[in-house]
Amino acid sequence: MSNLNPVSELPIGVFDSGVGGLTVLKAIRERLPQEHLLYLGDTARLPYGTKGAETVSRYAVQAAGHLVERGFKLLVVACNPASAVAMPALTKVFAPLPVIGVVEAGADAAVSTSVSGHIAVLATESTVHGGAYTRAIHARRPDAVVFSQACSLFVALAEEGWTHGALVESVAREYLHPLLDEKKRDGLDTVVLGCTHFPLLKQAIAHVAGEELQLVDSGE
Ligand code: DGL
Repeated sequence: MSNLNPVSELPIGVFDSGVGGLTVLKAIRERLPQEHLLYLGDTARLPYGTKGAETVSRYAVQAAGHLVERGFKLLVVACNPASAVAMPALTKVFAPLPVIGVVEAGADAAVSTSVSGHIAVLATESTVHGGAYTRAIHARRPDAVVFSQACSLFVALAEEGWTHGALVESVAREYLHPLLDEKKRDGLDTVVLGCTHFPLLKQAIAHVAGEELQLVDSGE
């Protein structure tokens, strides 16, 4: 064991505003079972998705700072609003630590899944209004048609542990209604779950979306 690099023994730090990032933690654990993982959910200040860019960026640097104090080798920003606005600050403040966000990975997955190029993004308010997914998808596929829908209530439902059943499906129906029209009209074929809380409601969302729509999980 003497040739083990002590740095490689450090954990990977993962953070989100709440329980959503655990979907990312789970995906990392499945792929890298040998790694030590350290998770921070900033539940005291949840939600991030309704706050402005400056506030989210400040919270993200503070949350990451708590993890850095413990020592880790890679930071995973398992929070879309923070991935959308705080990457420059995080990369600068914690350099040379590598920092990975979820938006670029989600855009990669969306573009490789969609055949028609008509892609819907379900996310929180700030992720939708900031347009990070639209830009990231267009950077990969300039002719893509991107629809965005803010679904902030999904975050509260996931935090409450209400992930299945009639209530969740009826909220999903409200949010997905315009997208389902779009599917009929223009061949929408892919829906990005652009918030790490949303995969917790995946079953209900898939039920409402129907089989022809591919759901892409930005956490995965
Ligand atoms: N889980 C986060 C996301 O990926 C944010 C939820 C929130 O705090 O609004 O969008």
